[in-house]
Amino acid sequence: MTGPSTTGPSTTGPDTTAPGAAGPAPADRAPAARLRPMRWWHIAPVLALELELFPEDAWSAGMFWSELAEAHPGGTRHYTVAVTPDGAVVGYAGLMAVGGDGDVQTIAVDGRHQGTGLGAALLTDLVREAARRGCADLLLEVRVDNTRAQRLYERFGFEPVGIRRGYYQPAGIDALVMRLDLAAASAAPTEHAAPADHAAPAAPAAAPEDLDEPAGHPRPDVKKDTPHG
Ligand SMILES: CC(C)(COP(=O)(O)OP(=O)(O)OC[C@H]1O[C@@H](n2cnc3c(N)ncnc32)[C@H](O)[C@@H]1OP(=O)(O)O)[C@@H](O)C(=O)NCCC(=O)NCCS
Repeated sequence: MTGPSTTGPSTTGPDTTAPGAAGPAPADRAPAARLRPMRWWHIAPVLALELELFPEDAWSAGMFWSELAEAHPGGTRHYTVAVTPDGAVVGYAGLMAVGGDGDVQTIAVDGRHQGTGLGAALLTDLVREAARRGCADLLLEVRVDNTRAQRLYERFGFEPVGIRRGYYQPAGIDALVMRLDLAAASAAPTEHAAPADHAAPAAPAAAPEDLDEPAGHPRPDVKKDTPHG
């Protein structure tokens, strides 16, 4: 699989096969999934995954409703689900794009489907959408102990830029803030993302700064809900 182009169209149209899921998946994995725009009727199955995958700080149905309320054309959100041929929702991801800044709000894949490339497919979708919306960069927060997610982000060219202390509550776990320079990724796409090719992670330019006070990169739309991505 090639890396995520930051210039192509969004992959969330109908019947977009998730790239990684088309490869030779292990026999015990479920069939290929397709990426589709998330709609209100996906909230219930997404919530079931959310409670399973983020047991300590799961979003509520109301949070997903308010996110989707901003996912209309011209809105600040973009949400995608991965759906199997039998209609099961097995992954989801969300982007916030405000004033030229992109933020990965959440990304998650059903445990039975992890390791098949769906996470990379969902992230590719968000990166493309952020670029399509003219975002200069894409930020995310990830638990410092979530090394698997960090590996995925590193393969896409995200670099650590800071730490938010005690960001994940109630556990008080720190968040690593990572940033993808979309302008650079667009200028030299092959340098950055080659998720399925296991490209070497980009070396961080410097140790992450403590971003507690003040935030090094002020968020244009600070939510009280903790983003998962
Ligand atoms: C982080 C997360 C979204 C990644 O999703 P994923 O679908 O497993 O991601 P991918 O399959 O694209 O890549 C994951 C691994 O599978 C490997 N892989 C990709 N395609 C594969 C395939 N066809 N067969 C086997 N392995 C494959 C990747 O190389 C990668 O390996 P690595 O973990 O050693 O780096 C997922 O682990 C998850 O939902 N975790 C719980 C929620 C969470 O932590 N979300 C992130 C919040 S910041």
